[in-house]
Amino acid sequence: MAKTTPSAHAHRKDEHLAIAEKRFKTAASAGFDQVRLIHRGLPELDQNDIRMKSQFGDLSLDWPFYIEAMTGGSPRTGIINEQLARVAAASGIAMAVGSQSIAISEPEQLKTFKTVRENNPNGVIFANVGAGVSVAVAQQAVEMIQANALEVHINSVQELIMPEGDRNFHWLARLTNLINAVDVPVIVKEVGFGMSRETAVQLEQSGIKYVNISGRGGTNFAQIENERLVDHHLDYLSDWGQTTVESLLELQKTPLHVAASGGVRTPLDVIKSLVLGADAVGVAGYFLHELMTNGETALLALIQQWQQDLRKLYLLAGCQTTAELRQAPYILSSNLLSYRQQRQF
Ligand code: FNR
Repeated sequence: MAKTTPSAHAHRKDEHLAIAEKRFKTAASAGFDQVRLIHRGLPELDQNDIRMKSQFGDLSLDWPFYIEAMTGGSPRTGIINEQLARVAAASGIAMAVGSQSIAISEPEQLKTFKTVRENNPNGVIFANVGAGVSVAVAQQAVEMIQANALEVHINSVQELIMPEGDRNFHWLARLTNLINAVDVPVIVKEVGFGMSRETAVQLEQSGIKYVNISGRGGTNFAQIENERLVDHHLDYLSDWGQTTVESLLELQKTPLHVAASGGVRTPLDVIKSLVLGADAVGVAGYFLHELMTNGETALLALIQQWQQDLRKLYLLAGCQTTAELRQAPYILSSNLLSYRQQRQF
């Protein structure tokens, strides 16, 4: 993890939040418009029979989408975490916190994460650390919020753009150590640049069972980190990586349990992700935007609307359960077909 002075580290959390929100409207496509589901005019289902629970490996989720990792680590982001936690508790969806290393190096920031468990005592909560942390830090992150799973983010692009970022990326052996030492599921998570089949094979061979492909097309950390720089000279990296849809195609034959995130903005994006192979779908920037623009009550109403809408979409796709969606037919655009052919899968 990047080395900065305590206040600079907390300040960076505030900057990420502010720039992500500022850049929200400039996001590129995550590829969902290039996937079409097939309409089932005779679903032979009653909307009340739809079951949206999802099994993400050993994790049982009441809803197939959740609030993805964003924040904590400064007074301002602590308030955001508290609001997100209340919304997660009221709607019953799972929630991830942002990177917790700061709470270990700066104990005065502990409360900005603990509030998430305090406000959502019975919910499914994911802890979050970077791949460079020690086993002890990972264990403390899980304990801090009695997490049900631990996300370990792999953020090489972000680190390389940050002048103060890491330059050593020998992460695989560390990840293997973490899964052996932490007693909740460990999800290896990208941060918006997508995941390739080659990365999935490396992870699988190292004993990893859960990934989050977090693809390009939503919040873009190349843009965010460049905006924090004076010279912006790595701006061109904004195009780097695989979109969320490309990443889901990349991982279709993997035995890994897959979560998707990156540019998810509608319930239709959620079910397209599930059809393409995801077990769970994370939403960060879009929910943050609603919270920061319209407040906590509006975010809760939006999530409840998504919950109702998903029921309708399962029905239109002719699927009664989340598991059935995995068998639903779909059509890819010629661009995606070409992508898949060139990648030979
Ligand atoms: C993030 N994201 C993130 N991810 C992570 O694993 N640890 C973190 O600390 C953060 N911090 C963070 C801050 C802010 C303000 C945002 C918006 C996002 C990345 C996030 O979890 C997700 O992978 C990407 O944002 C892509 O999803 P969206 O935003 O396009 O839905």
